[in-house]
Amino acid sequence: MMERVPTGIPGLDELTGGGFISGDVILITGSPGCGKTTFGLQYLYRGAVDYKENGVFVTLEESPARVIRNTWQFGWDIERLVKEDRMRIIRADPIAYSRCIPDRSKNKTPPHIDLGSVMTETLNKQIEHHVNEIGAKRIFIDSITSLKISENEFQVRSVILELIKNLENLECTTILASEITPGASSRETFNVEEYLSEVVIRMHTFRSNGNRVKAIEILKMRGTKHDEMMRPYAIINSGLVVYPRETVIDGRISGTTVLL
Ligand SMILES: Nc1ncnc2c1ncn2[C@@H]1O[C@H](COP(=O)(O)OP(=O)(O)OP(=O)(O)O)[C@@H](O)[C@H]1O
Ligand SMILES: [Mg+2]
Repeated sequence: MMERVPTGIPGLDELTGGGFISGDVILITGSPGCGKTTFGLQYLYRGAVDYKENGVFVTLEESPARVIRNTWQFGWDIERLVKEDRMRIIRADPIAYSRCIPDRSKNKTPPHIDLGSVMTETLNKQIEHHVNEIGAKRIFIDSITSLKISENEFQVRSVILELIKNLENLECTTILASEITPGASSRETFNVEEYLSEVVIRMHTFRSNGNRVKAIEILKMRGTKHDEMMRPYAIINSGLVVYPRETVIDGRISGTTVLL
């Protein structure tokens, strides 16, 4: 029997037969502002508070202070978790990192050194270090889109591959956030990370009669049966909630109960 990891997101685990599979790498994709960061932080926060599983948060975009500030509204005291060593925050800034390599602008970087892989190696070591120090079981990386600093498709692929391979070797269940450009969700476009992850969850937003409808869909989950419908979700004052018995069809919610 595969060990399950409860997500801490109300309604979601009903779609997967009881949560993520322990040790998996899960990709959360969606357009800007759909709630990827909220999803991942809720997974870490509820993990630490409700399930006594420590977590490591890797932020490649927003500053930790800003992230912590934005989650106050949900009543999450992330600062306390950090103080109590139940959560670690790693701030990784790919742009600053690329500036730190002094000779790069002068084209003196030896051609065999690829910036992306140097960065991933550093990041992997940092993650491993913090995971071991607090015995973390959960990791959230926000977002891997920021790791795609190379214009070379092959290099991007190997950076992401390297990262995912390393994460799979840790005894953690990991969420990776990844951006998709608005509109792309309707087409069947797949990124390298979607092929490499065991689970892909996509968050959609639709416009319907002037309202915004949000829907979540499990695109794939290896090794288990999972729900295949689009289910509405919302961000409310306690965080993200999924409504597993409602469906979203043609951008409209159909179901029996009134949401919220
Ligand atoms: N209390 C709240 N009630 C309703 N919606 C909220 C609330 N707080 C935040 N939101 C919504 O959550 C969204 C931000 O969520 P989040 O930062 O998790 O998204 P994201 O997918 O990570 O965005 P980005 O692509 O910018 O990183 C906002 O666009 C806002 O609509
Ligand atoms: Mg975000």
